[in-house]
Amino acid sequence: MADHAKAYQDPGTPEDISRRAFLARASIFTGTIVGLGLAVPLVASLVPKSELVDANKGFDPLNKDQFAELERTLDKPVKIFFNKLVTDGYYKTNNEYYVWGLKLGPDDLDKLRSERPDLFGPQAQSALDFEVGALGFVMWSPLCPHLNCKYDWNDSLGGFLCPCHGSEFSKFGQHKKNAQGKFIGPAPRGLDPLPFREQSGMAEVEWVKYSANTPNIIRVSYW
Ligand code: FES
Repeated sequence: MADHAKAYQDPGTPEDISRRAFLARASIFTGTIVGLGLAVPLVASLVPKSELVDANKGFDPLNKDQFAELERTLDKPVKIFFNKLVTDGYYKTNNEYYVWGLKLGPDDLDKLRSERPDLFGPQAQSALDFEVGALGFVMWSPLCPHLNCKYDWNDSLGGFLCPCHGSEFSKFGQHKKNAQGKFIGPAPRGLDPLPFREQSGMAEVEWVKYSANTPNIIRVSYW
């Protein structure tokens, strides 16, 4: 028993000690390299890559037939699809997206301005480098500004309704209030407009992603 205990206390020969020290240093070195190998890509994935963000910048044509329907529809918004080639690292995919288009009648631009001062004031200028409603149309991003669920038009409410947490918006994208003056649902702002233009007879939209759950509209990426 005593011999046993002694064996545990015996540090060994100088060669044994230096071999153990070498193995300990080698383990620490290997662990550090493996840790860095895992941490660097993880941290890099959290930083927005400007070349990817810019790779997806650009306008895409809206579906012609659906846009023609929008031109005939004044009382409510129309869902309009488009296709976009999206680059994500090495991968390119052709995705189908949609926006909600609203045709503005003669007084609607004034109504839009009075319901949505946030889209025309100086605070909007850093995020919106285009004039909202300039061509007589507004294109709403289909993502709810709360947590990016896709909302829908609801005829009986006469407005948009988000199925996730119940936020309601007018056709001008204003976050609606109830009879007590409280906002309906947790959305932190009204709906977000997208850049829209007419190019060679085609209606085109730019697919911008804005921040979720912030009171101010902030441009995040181009998908
Ligand atoms: S995601 Fe629309 S209300 Fe929460």
